[in-house]
Order: sequence, then structure tokens, then C-alpha cells
Amino acid sequence: MSPVRLVKPVAPERMPELLRAMPKAELHMHIEGSLEPEQMFALAQRNSVPLAYASAQAVREAYVFDNLQSFLDIYHAGTLVLKTEQDFYDMACAYLQRAQEDNVTHTELFFDTQTHTGHGLDAQMVVKGLHRACRDAPAKFGMTASLILCFLRHLSEAEAFECLEQIMPVRDRIVGIGLASSEVGHPPEKFAQVFARAKQLGFRLVAHAGEEGPPAYIWGALDVLKVERIDHGVQSMNDPDLIKRLVQDRIALTVCPLSNLKLRVYPSLTQHSIGRMLEAGMVATINSDDPAYFGGYINENFTQTFAALQLGSQQAYQLALNSFNASFIDATERARHIEQLDAVFDTF
Ligand code: HPA
Ligand code: ZN
Repeated sequence: MSPVRLVKPVAPERMPELLRAMPKAELHMHIEGSLEPEQMFALAQRNSVPLAYASAQAVREAYVFDNLQSFLDIYHAGTLVLKTEQDFYDMACAYLQRAQEDNVTHTELFFDTQTHTGHGLDAQMVVKGLHRACRDAPAKFGMTASLILCFLRHLSEAEAFECLEQIMPVRDRIVGIGLASSEVGHPPEKFAQVFARAKQLGFRLVAHAGEEGPPAYIWGALDVLKVERIDHGVQSMNDPDLIKRLVQDRIALTVCPLSNLKLRVYPSLTQHSIGRMLEAGMVATINSDDPAYFGGYINENFTQTFAALQLGSQQAYQLALNSFNASFIDATERARHIEQLDAVFDTF
């Protein structure tokens, strides 16, 4: 590992400009969680789906959560407006366009077909719509995008196997497999066999762990599921041996500060551990999780977190560098992204 470049200090009032300008990868964003209330209303109308709210504003006002489960219930209701391949394409394009404005140059999108097959949709149709948006991303939005299919951990492992089977005809359009939904009570070990099968099939592996669940779930994701990245992982800060392991093995953590705030993992951003994670040498990244629900896209996550924790240009560079190093792109692409990142810091 070459030492990380030292960058020039930047005055606090210019940090938002730097955070906006720097290229970055987003590695933890559920595409269904990017569905803005206005688009939800438009799709409800297009597909004649009744909504329980009178206006987009009323939908936004309902977005007050006590914990992960209270969010997942509302998130699930929002997905009912999605019906056709075009709906999935349009939803993904709306996110990609918004991400381009934040100078995201590569993204790996989470999606969960089980939510949609649960409403009678075809899993392959979902993949096709989302993948068409990823395929169009370089020309339309000046960025690359790939797909990670998350199993829903509140369902059984047999259902995850069924899900994997359903997408096999389109498996070349999916780069990785992840694990999402209600964490506590659904430890990684529940999915040991299906993750082993996914690994055999050549999928890259990630899992949500240590968002609300204990450090033991992070150990399980690493040692039993053999994942390459941990999504969230903030509870690792309560386990010094785990911190050591994450640093030594350079396991990336896709941290989502505004999500943690909205779901009350931390009482305020000033308490958030991302600054301490970087100090400990952990490969942390900043991401938006479900931006339509949690109050901001990736740059909003960066600017609010940097302001609350008084972080500076060195941490900005480190986080952006981590995002490219942790992504599932090839070495040539990685070098190209890091060159662009360096160019911004050279001239800022
Ligand atoms: N955590 C777990 N599952 C999810 C989330 C999340 O933040 N968003 C969508 N599915
Ligand atoms: Zn998530």
C-alpha cells in the first residue's frame, strides 16, 4: 500500500465547494430508496395505483422514523407504484441524473427483486429495466453504473435461493449479491449456503451488517458469508478486535451518515463515528442509502457530516479515494477515476 497523498488544507467555508467538485463513487444506495414523492405520484397515476397520501408534500411529512423497521414499512409501500420495465428504467435514470450533479462518476446500485416479485412482478423484468439505465449511464450521464442484488434477510434462505434462481438468465447484468432489510434477529449465518452458492457463481459479495445489529453480525458477514465490503458497519466501533481486523484486511465500510441520523443510530451527526473510523485507518466511504427518504443525496451527506465533525480536505480526499478503491471496477478504470480525483485536488 503506497502512503496516501497529503493534500493542501482548504478553508472551512470552501469545503462544500471541494466536496461537490471532487469525483466520487457511490457504493451504498438502494434504487427503490431514490424514488422521490413527485415521481411516486407520477408513477401511481401512470399505473392507476391508489396512494394513501394527498400530495407529494404529505408523503414527505410522513418520513419520520424511529428505527430501521419503521422506515422499511414506508419504503415497501412506496415500491407498490412500480409496475413495468420502463418504470424501473425511469427511476434509475432519475437517480443517475441526480448523482451526476453530485459528481458521482461510478455507482453500484442496490435493488431487491423479492420486494417486487412479492407484488407479482417478474424478477427478470426488474433487472432488465435497471440494467438498461446502467448501460445508458456513460452516454447519458457521464458515469458508469452496475447492479448489486440484495436478498431480503427477513425472508428465508430458501426464498433467497429462489430469488437467485430467477435471475440466473440475466446474471451477466448483475455484478454482486448483498443482504438488506430488517437486521436484528436475522444474522448473516442464516444465509451461509446461498452466499456460498453466489460466490461459486462468481458474484462479488457484500452485506448490510452492524447498522443496528451487534458487531457479531459483522464478524459473521466476514467469516461466514465471506463478503468483501460491509454496508454500514458502524457498530464495529464497539469492538476493538473487529476494528483491527477491518483495518488489517482493508475491508471497506459503506457508511451512510444521514441514514444513521434519520433511523436514530446516532442522536446527532456530531456523535457520528466516521471521523474516528478514518483516524483508525478503516476504509470508510460516505453514501446516501435511501436518499429520497433520508434527507439528501451523497453531497448532502458529505457536507452535513463534514460541517458537524469539522472534517477537512485530507479526509475528503481519503473518502473519495476509498470509494474508488472499494468499488468493483477493474484496475484501468480505477486508475482513470483516481487520476480525475487527483486533478481536482491539484487545482483546488
Ligand atoms: N437498511 C437495510 N435495508 C435497507 C435499507 C437500509 O438502510 N434501505 C433499503 N433496504
Ligand atoms: Zn442500505
